[in-house]
Amino acid sequence: MDYIIKGGTVINPDGRFKGDVRITDGIISEISPEIASITAENVIEADGLFVLPGGIDSHTHLEMKMGDTYSADDYESGTVAAACGGITTVFDYTLQENGRSMLDEIQSRYLLAREKACVDYAFHGGISEVNPERLSELEEMRKQGFTSIKAYMTYAFGLDDYSLYKLLKAAAAHQILITVHAESDAMVRVNREELIEKGKTDSAWYHYLSRPEAAEEEADIRAVKLALAAGAPVYIVHLGNAAGETYISSCKEKEIRVYAETCPQYLEFTNEVYKRGDGVRFICSPPMKGEQSRDKLWDGVRSGAIDVISTDHCPSQSYEKEWGISDFTKAPNGLMGIENMYPYMLDAANRGMISFERAVELCSNNPSKLFGCSQKGNVAVGKDADLVLYDPQKHFTITKKNMHSRTDYTIYEGKELTGYPVMTVSRGRIVYREGEFTGEAGYGRLIRRETSCCYGMN
Ligand code: URP
Ligand code: ZN
Ligand code: ZN
Repeated sequence: MDYIIKGGTVINPDGRFKGDVRITDGIISEISPEIASITAENVIEADGLFVLPGGIDSHTHLEMKMGDTYSADDYESGTVAAACGGITTVFDYTLQENGRSMLDEIQSRYLLAREKACVDYAFHGGISEVNPERLSELEEMRKQGFTSIKAYMTYAFGLDDYSLYKLLKAAAAHQILITVHAESDAMVRVNREELIEKGKTDSAWYHYLSRPEAAEEEADIRAVKLALAAGAPVYIVHLGNAAGETYISSCKEKEIRVYAETCPQYLEFTNEVYKRGDGVRFICSPPMKGEQSRDKLWDGVRSGAIDVISTDHCPSQSYEKEWGISDFTKAPNGLMGIENMYPYMLDAANRGMISFERAVELCSNNPSKLFGCSQKGNVAVGKDADLVLYDPQKHFTITKKNMHSRTDYTIYEGKELTGYPVMTVSRGRIVYREGEFTGEAGYGRLIRRETSCCYGMN
């Protein structure tokens, strides 16, 4: 199949130009100021539209077991929502049950995803125990194209410093990038114990108080120091606090290989949401922090201290969140966002907070480089035709009714955006057009990845 997207403004991190894009068999085969049309049927008119690289959401938890329930979107509904929000690649986080291999866990998730995923997907490994057996898997993980692993510093399956340091060293030797959920387990546990002892559990505000700024700051700094001593790069997921941003920014000035992502929820909301009547609906970890943190995260988005925007998409139904009404510890953690991330950041560009070039760098190009999928992340000849046609004039109000996730609410209810995707193309196939999903379950392909750019290989 061969067709042309005509007359749009192509935007990549390094600039923009008006031109035509030819797509042949799912690959971008030509880009030029004017490509002679073949027949009218083979042309998509894009005059007045932006032609952007498809978004990459490098942090999701689809159909993930969480206590007695599962995150509300499976690989089908999650990737339908992704496609409708301009996301053409989804990176899902696997967990590792003690005694089970990381590759077996990935294989189990793959068997679920391959029948359901509507856009391309990749898996990060997960690790909850660091022992010779697990470390012996690293070489095979890299060979099979699973070149990143998430370690948690808190939760029941979190790693202690001994294990994290050992993992970082071994991962560096195998050129695997460790991503870290950084919150101080000690602080969170003690804070929780004290709140429970005092009977302070009946407000989402106590969730925030149990995981305040200091809990994230301390763990961010410790994770980076351990990585530095191990000679390893490190990637901090869902950064939410000001001091962490300042520290990461200063590390980057010293060319320390530390990378960070944040998510729209940390840019849009502050801890004030936990004082609201529906505060439990916003429970996630780390929680949103004070105004100063939100401002600093925006600084990082502008300055480059933050490399990637992802979603940490891990939604629950409102009735499940309400399990936390009298006891915040009972609410499942996590928020929705897979359909909102790219439009949210592009709206920020439309309002002049960042450039469109920076928005596509954060939402597509940087994750493609850091997580080793060089076929994605750029509108360029030879790359997968993963594209978003974006109308910068279109007004859109986010409301549960026009979202495609299985959740019964959205934290972004009523949020008004200027500019919105009007078409999403995944390897040449139109998977979303003007509010409608037009793709197909099972179309998405597993991406086996190269080594992260932080190892200097690509
Ligand atoms: O609250 C969150 N973020 N839930 C998802 C799991 C995680 O920690 O990323
Ligand atoms: Zn996390
Ligand atoms: Zn997560």
